[in-house]
Amino acid sequence: MRKIKLGSSTLEVPVVAVGCMRINSLDKTEAERFVQTALEEGANFFDHADIYGGGTCEEIFADAVHMNATVREQMILQSKCGIRPGMFDFSKEHILNSVDNILKRLKTDYLDVLLLHRPDALVEPEEVAEAFDQLESSGKVRHFGVSNQNPMQIQLLKKVVKQPIVVNQLQLSITNANMISNGINVNMENNSAVNRDGSVLDFCRLHDITIQPWSPFQYGFFEGVFLGNDKFPELNSKIDEIAEKYNVSNTTIAVAWLLRHPANMQPVIGTMNIERLKDCIKAADIRLSREEWYEIYRAAGNILP
Ligand SMILES: NC(=O)c1ccc[n+]([C@@H]2O[C@H](COP(=O)([O-])OP(=O)(O)OC[C@H]3O[C@@H](n4cnc5c(N)ncnc54)[C@H](OP(=O)(O)O)[C@@H]3O)[C@@H](O)[C@H]2O)c1
Repeated sequence: MRKIKLGSSTLEVPVVAVGCMRINSLDKTEAERFVQTALEEGANFFDHADIYGGGTCEEIFADAVHMNATVREQMILQSKCGIRPGMFDFSKEHILNSVDNILKRLKTDYLDVLLLHRPDALVEPEEVAEAFDQLESSGKVRHFGVSNQNPMQIQLLKKVVKQPIVVNQLQLSITNANMISNGINVNMENNSAVNRDGSVLDFCRLHDITIQPWSPFQYGFFEGVFLGNDKFPELNSKIDEIAEKYNVSNTTIAVAWLLRHPANMQPVIGTMNIERLKDCIKAADIRLSREEWYEIYRAAGNILP
């Protein structure tokens, strides 16, 4: 699969990342087949979090790949920490403990990438910096990033954290594209002009931070999939028309739309269906035209000034 550099690092990653939040919906044999197919197709970047399935997703994954040192070298593993029941926790103690537990569950001694999952209002950047230093010097984590953070939150961390922030994982799909539409509608009186994220898209491009769009097929906050959904007739008819032209599925076109953005994003797909996984991977070879990209953008109800 086509690769990009992750943020400012030299780590080369496939442009489509495989999210493992739903892997606990598969039985053992299905999980083995799923991860094996992903690896065969070159999709060897797996996204985890300590909270997925209460930790079981990481365990199921490690069992499914029959984790050992050789297997480990064939893949790039990312996980996240910082969400606890009823609170967020970026304390040094919590970050260090979480990583130890993640490594145990994934049956490995290092993570390629660790992300802080959701902003902690009580964050003390010095504690994060100490935790990252310890994780880096012990070899437990090689690269660091964040998720769901705005530019100022990242700047606050960068004041003391010395490792580059290489990833910001953010909710983004064709139907959830405010970070794109607010940049198109600057200073207009319409709702699309509302800047909810502090211009995070441009900030990440400026600072070489790879945006990883999560839930690339969902509308709302896990409200459902927009593809084939009666709520989005215009969008689906446009996607279907373009899919037919390229002789691919609508799933492929939805991912290709994210990949066409010049920010070099790495969508994190959540399907556990092998055929859909392959369709998502096909998007790496498709480059939509400017006209097609804007047609899809508008068909989703996103506006131009
Ligand atoms: N950082 C964060 O805060 C955050 C939050 C949420 C998720 N994530 C990450 O992002 C990943 C993706 O999230 P997600 O699972 O919500 O994203 P998604 O890829 O938008 O949704 C996948 C779900 O949609 C279903 N689906 C139905 N029709 C589909 C179609 N035509 N094409 C694709 N999927 C279809 C899939 O079912 P089938 O399995 O049957 O295909 C699956 O249940 C997660 O695994 C996780 O790694 C991060």
